[in-house]
Amino acid sequence: MRFGDAINIEDLRAIAKRRLPRFVFAYVDGGAEDERTLVANREAFARLRFRPRTLVDVSNRAVSARLLGAPSALPVVVGPTGLNGLSWRDGDLALARAASKAGVPFAMSTVSMSLVEDIARDAPGRHWLQAYVFAERRITEAILGRARDAGFECAILTSDFPVTGKRERDLRTGLLPAQQFTLATKLDMLAHPRWLATVATRRPRFVNIERELPPGTDVNAFVGHSMFDPSFCWDDVKRFRDRWPRKLLLKGVLRADDAERALAAGIDGLVLSNHGGRQLDGAISALDALPEVARAVGGRASILVDGGVRRGSDIAKAVALGAEGVLLGRAPVYGLAAGGEAGVAHALAILADELDRTLALTGCTSVSGLSQDLVEQA
Ligand SMILES: Cc1cc2nc3c(=O)[nH]c(=O)nc-3n(C[C@H](O)[C@H](O)[C@H](O)COP(=O)(O)O)c2cc1C
Repeated sequence: MRFGDAINIEDLRAIAKRRLPRFVFAYVDGGAEDERTLVANREAFARLRFRPRTLVDVSNRAVSARLLGAPSALPVVVGPTGLNGLSWRDGDLALARAASKAGVPFAMSTVSMSLVEDIARDAPGRHWLQAYVFAERRITEAILGRARDAGFECAILTSDFPVTGKRERDLRTGLLPAQQFTLATKLDMLAHPRWLATVATRRPRFVNIERELPPGTDVNAFVGHSMFDPSFCWDDVKRFRDRWPRKLLLKGVLRADDAERALAAGIDGLVLSNHGGRQLDGAISALDALPEVARAVGGRASILVDGGVRRGSDIAKAVALGAEGVLLGRAPVYGLAAGGEAGVAHALAILADELDRTLALTGCTSVSGLSQDLVEQA
């Protein structure tokens, strides 16, 4: 199957699986430990059922929305994912271009393989920067400063990464802990000549981090050993708040009391997230946390959710429960691996079409019409 023939996100996932070497697909697709949270993210959407309104005139519908106070073609952000350059050459740029052409924001990861300046120049649109807080704070601050200068409108501090989750698929391929690939992984790379010729010939690097390190530093070793700061806590959030002049989101919140702390620290919005089931296995899904957090926040900040969004109807469910919109993690990356920028565009078009149908079938003409009474727990 070609990516253009994919009729849903699962089809794109199947193509990605075929095209990518096993270690890359495992990195994109996998979760932590027993992958219970990875599964729970999908189950949370499946458990929520619609209570559709009938006989509503739905001949004119709009899937557009407002995210962080500005218009977006869909209530969707292409969320931050690292190492996209392994799925497709210049993968970050392909994601950013497809997002910008689809009229939705692109959130770039700190561990991306394109420069913030290149994204701003080559993919004009709404750009957000996800920031990991490094033990060497200076590096995080320098990357944020460059994103500010490049016109990024929002920074996202990821809070659920004091250590890397135990991702057993990556441990088996050798990607973790330090890219010491097993013989089987190396042979499997050789069995993917197209990937070798397009991706591996120009080894993707963490260019944004590399630029802030002394010349000659091994950036992969730096990322492996000294990257994430387990002492990152609420006082640091306040410091970032004081220094970053634009919108600031906190990603990784799953509780109402943490949402309150985030508001007290001056955060503009929350991304309810368990990192796509890649960190704490056994964590609840963001969708399950949403009603409690939405009640506590009471409209004082934007709420976005992520984890397990594979259907337009999933987007509708999250909005009905009180989210402004969703972040997509794997869905666009499956599209990327299946067909580059056009594959990402196809993934976004599939979700837009499904969301539009869901609006019509639930008796809504707009995203803002998706109210809580339209869903119930099964
Ligand atoms: C391959 C991959 C890489 C990711 N890299 C990052 C990252 O660099 N920073 C971050 O905050 N979240 C990262 N995430 C988490 C996503 O932003 C998002 O929270 C999660 O993927 C949502 O779940 P979904 O993939 O089921 O949509 C990554 C997720 C995946 C799948």
